[in-house]
Amino acid sequence: MRLFLLAVVLSCSCARAGCEPKIVNIGAVLSQKRYEQVFKDAVTQANQIYGRDKFKLTAISVTHKPNAIQMALSVCEDLISNQVYAILVSHPPQSNDHLTPTPVSYTAGFYRIPVVGLTTRMSIYSDKSIHLSFLRTVPPYSHQAHVWFDMMREFRWNHIILIVSDDHEGRAAQKRLETLLEERETKNKKRNYENLDQLSYDNKRGPKAEKVLQFSQETNLTALLLEAKELEARVIILSASEEDAAAVYKAARFLNMTGSGYVWLVGEREMSGKALSEAPDGLIGLQLINGKNESAHINDAVAVVAQSIQELFEKENITEPPRGCVGNTNIWKTGPLFKRVLMSSKYPEGLTGRVEFNDDGDRKYAHYSILNYQKSRLIQVGIYNGTQVVMNNQRKIIWPGGETEKPRGFQMSTRLKIVTIHQEPFVYVKPTEQDGTCKEEKTLNGVADIKKVICTGPNETIPGRPIVPQCCYGFCIDLLIKLAGTMNFTYEVHLVADGKFGTQERVNNSNKKEWNGMMGELLGVQLEGPAHCWWGGSSTVA
Ligand SMILES: *[C@@H]1O[C@H](CO)[C@@H](O)[C@H](O)[C@H]1NC(C)=O
Ligand SMILES: *[C@@H]1O[C@H](CO)[C@@H](O)[C@H](O)[C@H]1NC(C)=O
Ligand SMILES: *[C@@H]1O[C@H](CO)[C@@H](O)[C@H](O)[C@H]1NC(C)=O
Ligand SMILES: *[C@@H]1O[C@H](CO)[C@@H](O)[C@H](O)[C@H]1NC(C)=O
Ligand SMILES: *[C@@H]1O[C@H](CO)[C@@H](O)[C@H](O)[C@H]1NC(C)=O
Ligand SMILES: *[C@@H]1O[C@H](CO)[C@@H](O)[C@H](O)[C@H]1NC(C)=O
Ligand SMILES: *[C@@H]1O[C@H](CO)[C@@H](O)[C@H](O)[C@H]1NC(C)=O
Ligand SMILES: *[C@@H]1O[C@H](CO)[C@@H](O)[C@H](O)[C@H]1NC(C)=O
Repeated sequence: MRLFLLAVVLSCSCARAGCEPKIVNIGAVLSQKRYEQVFKDAVTQANQIYGRDKFKLTAISVTHKPNAIQMALSVCEDLISNQVYAILVSHPPQSNDHLTPTPVSYTAGFYRIPVVGLTTRMSIYSDKSIHLSFLRTVPPYSHQAHVWFDMMREFRWNHIILIVSDDHEGRAAQKRLETLLEERETKNKKRNYENLDQLSYDNKRGPKAEKVLQFSQETNLTALLLEAKELEARVIILSASEEDAAAVYKAARFLNMTGSGYVWLVGEREMSGKALSEAPDGLIGLQLINGKNESAHINDAVAVVAQSIQELFEKENITEPPRGCVGNTNIWKTGPLFKRVLMSSKYPEGLTGRVEFNDDGDRKYAHYSILNYQKSRLIQVGIYNGTQVVMNNQRKIIWPGGETEKPRGFQMSTRLKIVTIHQEPFVYVKPTEQDGTCKEEKTLNGVADIKKVICTGPNETIPGRPIVPQCCYGFCIDLLIKLAGTMNFTYEVHLVADGKFGTQERVNNSNKKEWNGMMGELLGVQLEGPAHCWWGGSSTVA
């Protein structure tokens, strides 16, 4: 009882006279010794702004250790033993697979002590099931997809070929870009298709990836790029490590895929170090502004942490962080709350711009330089200001092949894939001759030849039968042959597999209508003929 009273008296006198402020330790694992002073200075500066007489921050820092075990031990012995509230971690210098912020993230994450990454860009750190307490003042590489997406809008490229490495980084970039493209497509599709004009119009407009090509260490890059060369899109977006990007550029140069007409759009890794030495002229790449400026990120991270500690201490039931790792397996109860406070913090005046985080703890509104590789020099031709691409009209882009005009982004194919349907007298279907050809016949009055073309489809046009070559003729085929002659295209004809022409049916009594049958099979534009001749071509950019 007496003890309790004493405590009350003490805390009262404390409130009146002003206690010594509470000491709050902040840890950091930095890439070089010289940044430890930057960190100390940033903390001193933060103490003048935040906390007042309530708390005082103290900086405790170490540099990266040569291996993961030593690093984890150092986090325990040098930082957690000092009850740090948060740990800042930069990316190790000359990083390789063996040296990453992972041991710091794992060790601190085990106790739920928040870890603020400063210069780590790999997308894996966004995975919150692995990196529980990790947030960062830079965006992951995969967020570069936002810039690529906006570049597609800016330059009106509707079709791209995406080449990605078959690893976490490549898949993350692919997922990000595809999500953005799908969102845009759903927005466009909100309108109802009351008629076919609308349908074909939208199919022509919607930007999409014509093809996604994945490669791994075993992939024959020459064969992969040959596949890309066959496609119509000429805008290639590449997500790869430095080494892989260099190999892709080499193979592309050999296949004459780095010249006029092509666009190569890449990120930061694909335009650094080894990749840059093989990069083709005309390449467009990105660079995170201040992305490698550790000092600037230390300052911004300290400010965000100080601001969040101030907010944290206004909440109830705050517990102390764990002291050391030895014999200690309890998580820090307040850790998850502190992480939430950090993630929701807003710091508009950062040295690196407006600092805010998304739900994965990644930096939002990052700014990028858009760079063009011209005569072995990187020239800034625009920026991404956090939401939008802003091109610098004073600095002209030199495209691959030395072109100064923006490439149109596709090569028109003159070979069309035609889908049609057995419907006499517009389209007749008969078996081929013994030798697999179609024989011309005289019409009944003997005046003209009946022209036939090879068309593939289910045998005898019975759905479910094997797809075999057959002979198609009739009014619609005559028209096709005539059009191909005047419009100068070649074609291959397919019969629709389910044998249905296709109707537009209301979906669940809503206003939305969808196509089935032949129309449903068509992904490309519709070539419309008169009367009953409906064809779909796969030349999606026509
Ligand atoms: C890679 O593919 C190209 C084209 O298909 C082929 O000519 C070449 O022999 C292949 N290289 C290897 C190592 O398999
Ligand atoms: C690339 O272009 C050069 C010169 O025009 C030509 O000699 C070479 O055969 C081409 N290579 C390929 C793979 O098309
Ligand atoms: C890094 O950022 C600081 C603070 O904004 C700035 O003074 C410094 O010039 C930057 N360093 C580089 C190399 O950009
Ligand atoms: C703080 O702890 C007290 C006592 O355990 C509890 O009643 C109260 O709800 C807690 N407050 C918050 C915000 O968790
Ligand atoms: C980015 O630029 C666009 C166009 O100039 C502008 O509308 C937008 O407000 C800018 N965004 C930021 C964050 O500066
Ligand atoms: C198509 O089916 C018929 C009869 O079922 C059969 O005689 C013919 O060989 C089949 N054609 C092909 C190309 O498989
Ligand atoms: C038709 O296209 C081919 C291949 O693109 C071209 O070589 C030919 O000159 C064209 N003919 C006419 C009449 O335009
Ligand atoms: C239509 O309704 C059925 C049953 O209610 C449902 O299973 C189906 O997914 C709906 N289709 C669409 C396109 O909403």
